[in-house]
Amino acid sequence: MSVPFADLQLQYQKIKGEIDAAIAAVIRDNAFIRGPYVDAFEQEFAGAVDAGHCVSCANGTDALYLAMAALKVEPGDEVITTAHSWISTSAMITHAGATVVFCDADGATFTIDPTAIEAAITPRTVGIIPVHLYGQPADMAAIMAIAARHNLWVIEDCAQAHLARYKGRQIGTFGAAATYSFYPGKNLGAMGDAGAVVTNDSELAEHMTMLARHGGVVKHQHRIEGINSRLDGMQAAILSAKLPHLPDWTKARQDAAKIYDAGLNQIEGVVIPQVGADRTHVYHLYTIKHPRRDALAAHLNANGVQTAINYPTALPFLAAYSRLGHVPEQFPNAYRDQGSILSLPMFAEITREQQDEVIDLVRQF
Ligand SMILES: Cc1ncc(COP(=O)(O)O)c(C=O)c1O
Repeated sequence: MSVPFADLQLQYQKIKGEIDAAIAAVIRDNAFIRGPYVDAFEQEFAGAVDAGHCVSCANGTDALYLAMAALKVEPGDEVITTAHSWISTSAMITHAGATVVFCDADGATFTIDPTAIEAAITPRTVGIIPVHLYGQPADMAAIMAIAARHNLWVIEDCAQAHLARYKGRQIGTFGAAATYSFYPGKNLGAMGDAGAVVTNDSELAEHMTMLARHGGVVKHQHRIEGINSRLDGMQAAILSAKLPHLPDWTKARQDAAKIYDAGLNQIEGVVIPQVGADRTHVYHLYTIKHPRRDALAAHLNANGVQTAINYPTALPFLAAYSRLGHVPEQFPNAYRDQGSILSLPMFAEITREQQDEVIDLVRQF
């Protein structure tokens, strides 16, 4: 039996009627850029994540840029983020004009370690970007307390964590703004690139909207120099069709995680995902640790099970950051984990048989 890492085709086949109708409607209405489908999705998504405003944009990377640009980061400002993430988070700090300061991740949950944040704060620090990595909320109580003590803003990178909760409250509602990606493989995925920033601050929302639309919301009235970062009508309509299914898909991922947990927990060498207190994990990725990760991955792959490494090189050690001269001792958890993490197949439609196959192969290894 082969087990794919994710199966987007299966999801499409299950709701083909809804998706095809959404696409046809956009074509019928010539609503390709902005228009009613984009407005509708912004409203619906804001409602789904308990936010006051949703500003849609081209992708989750732009979302980070828009949030930071609207918070007016300046050269010399330092923004703290985690060593264990996808490069969008840190690269957009640089592109927004500030300096990236990395913190180690907590070795159990893979999310940013609050004690490392405290140690990284300088008089130039202006903000913190925690990432709810793999679908697990970062320790928002500790992070918000640090931010309040030092008068810093927080932008939550929610690209991997749609509908995750911390102490029962939706992630993305803690900071000044929260960014989402709807990359096809995400828990809520478009059929192309798409993203959004949400916030409860209406001024910030207006500024981000302006920035994303060439610096003005009224045509030819450019109040500032913005960028062109639009969610297109087709993606918006597809996302609106998928959004009502997201709670069920999330539950299916959580159920699949329980099956993996039970099956893998007793296998020597395997460390199953550790969920921190008060956190509701939505399992964008199901990532285990194993001391012989590469050999285990090779065994699974040779037997038809696709796996991924998220991510093989922690951010401070990428060539893109060689200028910072970081060494492993500064980020011991991220450094150690980059060699042992392995993401197993995870998607809402994964079957019990597919999961048993994965578990059996891990046990056999
Ligand atoms: C943690 C994180 N932040 C940001 C992004 C950027 O999103 P996008 O690919 O939509 O630009 C991603 C997704 O790739 C991500 O996983």
